[in-house]
Amino acid sequence: MPIFDTHAHYDSNSFRADRDEVLSALPAAGVSLVVDPGCDLESSREAIALAERFPHVWAAAGIHPSDCAGTGDAELAVLRDLCGHEKVVAVGEIGLDYYWKDNPPRAFQQQVFRRQIELALELDLPVIVHDREAHGDSLAIALEYPGLRGVFHCFSGSPEMAQALLKRGWYLGFDGPITYKNAQKAPEVAAVTPLERILVETDAPYLTPVPYRGKRNDSRNLPYVLEKLAEWKGVGAEELTRITWENGLRLFSKIRVKE
Ligand code: NI
Repeated sequence: MPIFDTHAHYDSNSFRADRDEVLSALPAAGVSLVVDPGCDLESSREAIALAERFPHVWAAAGIHPSDCAGTGDAELAVLRDLCGHEKVVAVGEIGLDYYWKDNPPRAFQQQVFRRQIELALELDLPVIVHDREAHGDSLAIALEYPGLRGVFHCFSGSPEMAQALLKRGWYLGFDGPITYKNAQKAPEVAAVTPLERILVETDAPYLTPVPYRGKRNDSRNLPYVLEKLAEWKGVGAEELTRITWENGLRLFSKIRVKE
């Protein structure tokens, strides 16, 4: 069964030395689809450039809350153009990050988040949401927009928050941290999440699963996430691989896979 890594940053500097090598090796290692989300205009352009060169790579374009300082009409106009590219399948990653003290002010993050959601709705694209230590506001904003489709990437909220999102059709992303010993909420979140709303992500080069925690992450480590989640959900890893592949194609519906 092919694997779909719905969130990996191959435009990151961590892959400077061997980016082409790693990306070229993915299909033979079982990873047949990747979405590479941008974090600002420049990395969105780089993600698109990779998507143009590698058939199994698709891009998302967006401005991350940590990088949203100075975002205004001009930047959003550029973002709109980037989103028109045939291989851009989502607006992301966007959202709220209250963890880093030197991030832009919360009210400004919320404004940029809302404007990018409105762009996604206008262009009929799903969103990829980053929510770090901002659960209440992220949930409230997500629920403000009926008809908005998307994924809460590396979901770290409560089971109750998960249920509120699931009720509105959202997908939840599961990443390497579910393999860590201190993963407490994740099994409860997985328990309330129906199989057809689960996406698996690496967030490469970050969030490397056990047993490679501490090393650079890439999509070839996704089976460790799939195995843990399959165990929690009581299904086979192969079955979950197939289901998450279909889920990814359903959400990122611009993707066309050649038979
Ligand atoms: Ni990310």
